[in-house]
Amino acid sequence: MDRYALIGHPVAHSKSPSIHAAFAAQTGEAMTYERILAPLDGFVDTVRDFIAAGGRGMNVTVPFKLEAFALADHLSPRAQAAGAVNTLSFRADGIHGDNTDGVGVVRDLIANLDCPLAGRRVLLLGAGGAARGAIQPLIEAAPRALHIANRTAAKAVELAGEFDGLAGAVPLTASGFDDLGIAAFEIIINATSASLSAAAPAIPDTVYAPGALAYDMMYGAEPTAFLIAASTAGAARVADGLGMLIEQAAESFLIWRGVRPDTAPVLAAQRATLA
Ligand code: ATR
Repeated sequence: MDRYALIGHPVAHSKSPSIHAAFAAQTGEAMTYERILAPLDGFVDTVRDFIAAGGRGMNVTVPFKLEAFALADHLSPRAQAAGAVNTLSFRADGIHGDNTDGVGVVRDLIANLDCPLAGRRVLLLGAGGAARGAIQPLIEAAPRALHIANRTAAKAVELAGEFDGLAGAVPLTASGFDDLGIAAFEIIINATSASLSAAAPAIPDTVYAPGALAYDMMYGAEPTAFLIAASTAGAARVADGLGMLIEQAAESFLIWRGVRPDTAPVLAAQRATLA
């Protein structure tokens, strides 16, 4: 059996083991996927122990994604753009680091929510690690424009500046929430951590264009504060980040096993366990 694991601190409540177990059962891949709680000062040692024990790959969660980035011998372009690694593969030529978080949100929008990004105006809220990881995959999905807005405007402007050379034909702009004016968007993605404290980013109601989809990278049994605020403000559709979680896992599974699992039944099963 090939061994994989999630490494983080904490990891107890992670859904990743049951998601990967479902993928393995569905595809017939002979693998195990466990949770590993690493001490806060023991990430690298814990990874090395897992490799020594025959481990083939790891997902990396809070707070180790930057340490995983530093540890990798080889980085994918999207890991490089994200500045963080959530997927490690242990191969003969060293440790490979990738980042599947951003592609997870894009695939969830396109494949599960039937919400193509091409030609749409996209508003990304936040300028922390979650926002950073989404930018390159969002640009690659060819929106009409991508605007990054953050409570602290300077951080949004700085983040957008880092992607200047990568944006190609996609207009990439940035501002504070207060500077959004009456600009409207078809897709509004919350990548702030506001929902963790049951708060919604203070954005104008006018950001929601007719038919707009509001998407929160967070999820829970109940709609997040952002999704409630978005519905009230006129968003036509809302979606939480459970699909993103499943899609980033599927992308990691593909990297490790070379097989893309069918995510729909796994998403439905995980949704049922939330209720
Ligand atoms: P993560 O890795 O989850 O992105 P982070 O790097 O700490 O976490 O970034 C948190 C993001 O959430 C930031 O964009 C932060 O805004 P500031 O840069 O202004 O701090 C944003 N954020 C957190 N709480 C928020 C709130 N209540 N309203 C709006 N934005 C919030």
